[in-house]
Amino acid sequence: MQILSIIVNWLHMVGGFTWLGGLIFVNIVLSPVVQPKGIPPEFIRIMGMERFRYYAWGSIGIIILSGIFNIVRGMAENSGDPNPLFVGALFTKLVIVAAMIVITMVNSVVLRKRLADAKPTPGGPSEEIKRMGARLVVFSRINLALGVLVLLMVAIMRSAA
Ligand code: HEM
Repeated sequence: MQILSIIVNWLHMVGGFTWLGGLIFVNIVLSPVVQPKGIPPEFIRIMGMERFRYYAWGSIGIIILSGIFNIVRGMAENSGDPNPLFVGALFTKLVIVAAMIVITMVNSVVLRKRLADAKPTPGGPSEEIKRMGARLVVFSRINLALGVLVLLMVAIMRSAA
């Protein structure tokens, strides 16, 4: 059981850091470097998402399965009253992660597909495409900010455990 817990915890962290690491790279490293060269940030994000989305969705699956395992194990091991700080931080983390998954769905399924399918038009992208691109950028930044908040919840959980 000890070995299984270690492996599941390890997978949980690998999944979390793969997802958040990808968000950090696209938002903080890739876009600012390429943007001054005249490539629109929404294009960069679509390129990043085309390649990264399988890793992102794989990570989300791993995080959810390993997280559920952690919850069940925690409940089985601690029969006494649960630490309210730990439970509060865990609950907040779950709400934030749920919001992140919804945003990922909108970005990676709806916006990415519509932007990638848009036919090039003479005179540059239409107003609608520009609006969708801007939305993709904002959502991606919000997801990164939420991911940073998740890490705050993890820090609270660790200190409360
Ligand atoms: C972006 C998403 C997530 C990230 C980055 C993340 C990250 C982490 C990290 C770094 C730990 C600390 C591991 C340790 O110190 O032992 C942890 C613990 C935990 N996570 Fe997550 N997590 C995420 C999502 C989730 C989800 C969706 C669930 C539940 C379905 C979950 C449930 C748990 C539980 C119960 C623990 C405590 C484990 C223990 O007490 O040993 N996490 N998480």
